[in-house]
Amino acid sequence: MGRPARRRPLEHEIADPVGTGRRRILITGAGGQLGRALQETFVADDVVALTHAEWDVTLPRLSLPADPGLVLHTAAWTDVDGAEDDPQGAAAVNVGGTRHVAELGAPLVYYSTDYVFDGRTSDPYVESDAPNPLSAYGRTKLHGEAAAGEQAWIVRSSGLFGPTGTNFVTTMLRLARERDEVAVVDDQRTAPTYVGHLADATRELLERPFGIWHLAADGDCTWAELAEAIFEESALSTRVRRISSDALDRAAPRPPYSVLRSEKDAPSLPHWRDGLRACLDGLA
Ligand SMILES: NC(=O)c1ccc[n+]([C@@H]2O[C@H](COP(=O)([O-])OP(=O)(O)OC[C@H]3O[C@@H](n4cnc5c(N)ncnc54)[C@H](OP(=O)(O)O)[C@@H]3O)[C@@H](O)[C@H]2O)c1
Repeated sequence: MGRPARRRPLEHEIADPVGTGRRRILITGAGGQLGRALQETFVADDVVALTHAEWDVTLPRLSLPADPGLVLHTAAWTDVDGAEDDPQGAAAVNVGGTRHVAELGAPLVYYSTDYVFDGRTSDPYVESDAPNPLSAYGRTKLHGEAAAGEQAWIVRSSGLFGPTGTNFVTTMLRLARERDEVAVVDDQRTAPTYVGHLADATRELLERPFGIWHLAADGDCTWAELAEAIFEESALSTRVRRISSDALDRAAPRPPYSVLRSEKDAPSLPHWRDGLRACLDGLA
């Protein structure tokens, strides 16, 4: 017997589970940068936002105040290099944790990554392309996709940044306060995505069927090009020295090319440069 077809959620299951006119939504990893952005986007809904301290997803959730109609599952082990040293720890969060979230029985959005691909291409990746992760992090996120179950939107995105937390933009701005020049890799091309834009696209995606969806910013750039744009938009004179990934000697290999595009009718996101401006506005 083949796999059952993925079914679209019934409208009442996510739209109004308790007849109040508001969706009851659980957000995991609510202290992270995407978790925070989602709380802003879904502010009109009945949101329960649980931080790492409030629900460690490596442990089954025994009780919730009420059953959610939808889960936005952002909790994850996101330390890409750290996952090489402790792949089992990363899997406990990204795979085991996702299984626990799926066990709640509600439709869920699982956030995955461009790092499920090996990057040995110069064409954007679409949903039907075969994954081949290079790193332990990428492998755990790919297994997490399977653990999300049948009632899931698998959202692959890339290079997330926002005004909260530690990310490439906030790191570059910090380094610019400390030095005149920063060395940044110029041999990894991706589509850096602003978390506010991804959160808005997530809301639109709920109108689409379950399955894999690529949701990343329009355009693409290398990290060095993004650093130059950050300094330009911030009117900083900090110089960018372009280096190769080998010079950094990091534990986890990264795909050299991981631009994500959709071959389906995915919600479209603004250009990464618009995301950068929105992020800098948020920081100001
Ligand atoms: N960042 C990127 O560039 C990127 C790119 C593509 C996809 N993604 C995916 O997008 C999602 C959101 O990423 P993000 O950038 O918002 O990451 P983030 O800022 O690191 O947030 C992840 C959150 O998960 C929490 N967390 C870690 N272990 C947990 C556990 N065992 N139980 C519950 N919560 C736990 C973290 O809490 P603590 O900090 O307190 O541990 C943190 O608040 C993740 O699934 C990530 O894999 C990220």
